[in-house]
Amino acid sequence: MRKIPVNKLKPGMVLACKVRDGRGGLLLDEDSVLNNRRIARLKKAGISRVFIKDFMLEDVEATDFISDETREEAIKILKKAFQHLVKGSEADLASVEAGVQKIIWEVSRNTCQMISLTDVRTCDSFIFAHSVNVCALSIYTGVLLGLTEDQLRILGLGALFHDIGKTMLDGDLLYKPGPLTDEEMAQVRKHPIAGYEILRRCADLDPLVARVALEHHERLDGSGYPKGLKGKKIHLFSRIVAVVNVFDALISDRPYRRAYLPHEAAAIIEKEAESKFDPEIVRVFMENVALYPIGTVVELSNGEVGMVIDVNKGQQARPIVRLLPPEGKKEAGEWQELDLSKQMDLYIVRVLEDQPFPDH
Ligand SMILES: [Fe+2]
Repeated sequence: MRKIPVNKLKPGMVLACKVRDGRGGLLLDEDSVLNNRRIARLKKAGISRVFIKDFMLEDVEATDFISDETREEAIKILKKAFQHLVKGSEADLASVEAGVQKIIWEVSRNTCQMISLTDVRTCDSFIFAHSVNVCALSIYTGVLLGLTEDQLRILGLGALFHDIGKTMLDGDLLYKPGPLTDEEMAQVRKHPIAGYEILRRCADLDPLVARVALEHHERLDGSGYPKGLKGKKIHLFSRIVAVVNVFDALISDRPYRRAYLPHEAAAIIEKEAESKFDPEIVRVFMENVALYPIGTVVELSNGEVGMVIDVNKGQQARPIVRLLPPEGKKEAGEWQELDLSKQMDLYIVRVLEDQPFPDH
């Protein structure tokens, strides 16, 4: 499968992954054949890119590091829990914990795999899907950092509920297309404290869960909010959630900008690693993110163009690339492939999103 911009979609193309509307419902299912009406629907929903099935990648399997089933179930459970917690009524924390436990199991089994997110969602109601992603990514990072099962559970809950305070904000403000005014920004910046207050009321939750909500926008150099805490005054779990939260936000569409590609998001975070984020967490996380996930179309330093068909763990900038066949040659099984981890004279120059490809 290959990720392409929605404005390059053509009728007849087939979706390789589900596209969700962020409210738990499906916008379009996997295997949907696109037509003009469906393409218009994706555009209207504000989706910038989707995964399509691709002739050149028919024999290549790309999987997300958590299953669709686990993700969907967690989103459903979280929605319910949010509603109860915000109202101050009792939430079914046992099922939330069971959801987190399932993510821990899946992620622990899959740490040999690079983080490659296939989740595509609209920006209109991103909190639930975003929270589940942040939860899975935090747990993944926690596993790599050697946290215990009990620590992973609390970290997972903190990550899942980190943005619960946003439910207290006006929806217009949350999804405003365009930059916020100073006054609006001040409103948004209240969400960590609002989240902390909601979670603190819940006696069954470990106090660290509320602390993650409070601290996830704090930055190591004291430039964050709400308190401007510095360095290790910010809890380890909050420092983990801070990094993965920014990564997931950058690779998602927003009402005012398209999603960044993974290598662009990584470059933005790495630039800040020295001052704002915990460098060790950034290192561990970035070593395990596929900068050029399977299906990315790249131009190499010798001018050749190809698709990434596999990633090399530990050498994210040097994946295995299947070269675009010469004009007219479309036979499967005859592709020329280059393993960039073994071809040190070649490197990726840029990602091409508009490259036309041969069809069946
Ligand atoms: Fe937040």
